[in-house]
Amino acid sequence: MAELIKVNNISKSFGDNTVLKNLDLTILKGEVIAIIGSSGSGKSTLVRCMAGLENTENGEILLKDKIIQNVKSTNGLIGMVFQNFNLFPHYTVLENLTKPCQTVKKMNSKDAKEKAMNLLKKVHLQDKFNQYPSTLSGGQKQRVAIARALSMDPEIIIFDEPTSSLDPELAHEVFETISTLAHEGQTMVIVTHQINAIRHFATRVLFLNKGQIEEEGTPKYIFEECTNPKLKKFLQIVDYVDLD
Ligand SMILES: Nc1ncnc2c1ncn2[C@@H]1O[C@H](COP(=O)(O)OP(=O)(O)OP(=O)(O)O)[C@@H](O)[C@H]1O
Ligand SMILES: [Mg+2]
Repeated sequence: MAELIKVNNISKSFGDNTVLKNLDLTILKGEVIAIIGSSGSGKSTLVRCMAGLENTENGEILLKDKIIQNVKSTNGLIGMVFQNFNLFPHYTVLENLTKPCQTVKKMNSKDAKEKAMNLLKKVHLQDKFNQYPSTLSGGQKQRVAIARALSMDPEIIIFDEPTSSLDPELAHEVFETISTLAHEGQTMVIVTHQINAIRHFATRVLFLNKGQIEEEGTPKYIFEECTNPKLKKFLQIVDYVDLD
C-alpha cells in the first residue's frame, strides 16, 4: 500500500526536556493507528509534528514524499481533531463547515452547503445545522468537528484525545463515528486512552514511552500478547481509570 507519512529519525526537545528521540514511523494509506502511552510520553508532540504544528530538531517528516515544514506545507491533506473541539462559536453548525469550504476549498456557497449537509448527515447531526455550537452536547460538538475535518477531504485525520473531555456515553457516540470512518478506509491516527473503544478497529497500536516507540503491533499483540513490563504496567493503570 502507498506510504502517506514517513517520519525519519526525528527528535524534539523543549529546553533540556527531550520529548521525542530518534523516532521513525511509516503510515500507509488505509491504516488506523492508535497511539497510547503515559502522560508526557510525547504523543501530542508527535502528532503535532506530523501536522506541521511543531518543528523538529533533526530528521524529517514526509507527507506523500514532500517534507512537512509547517501547517501550510501539509496542503490540507492532514485534518486535526483536538480534545476541545475548536469550533467557531459565532458560526452555526452549518457555517462551521461551509465557511472553510468556501475560503480554503474555494467552493461556491451552494456546493459548500450541499457538501456540509451530507457530512452532517454522516455524523447524524443534520437536524442541528442551524444551531450554534454552545447549544450542543460535547459529543455533538466533537462530531461537528469531525465533519468539519472531513470537509477538507484530508488524506489523514489525526485525533488527539478526541473524547477525553466527554462522558462515556458521549465518547461512545464519537467512537461510533470514528469506527465508521475506519471501516470506510479513512486513514487515521488516534491518540487515546480508550482502549476498549479502539481495539476493534485500530489496525496498529503504538506504545510510546519517553519519546520512543517502545512497542508496536496489532491490537491483539499489544493488548493481549506483549509481555513488556512497561506496557503491562501502563495497561493496568489505564484499566484502573476505565473502571473508575
Ligand atoms: N510547548 C511546550 N513547551 C514546553 N514543554 C512542552 C511543550 N509541549 C509539550 N511539552 C512537554 O513535552 C513533554 C511531552 O508532552 P506531550 O504533550 O507530547 O505528552 P503527551 O504524551 O501528549 O501527554 P498527555 O497524555 O498528558 O497528553 C511533556 O513533558 C511536556 O511538558
Ligand atoms: Mg497529549
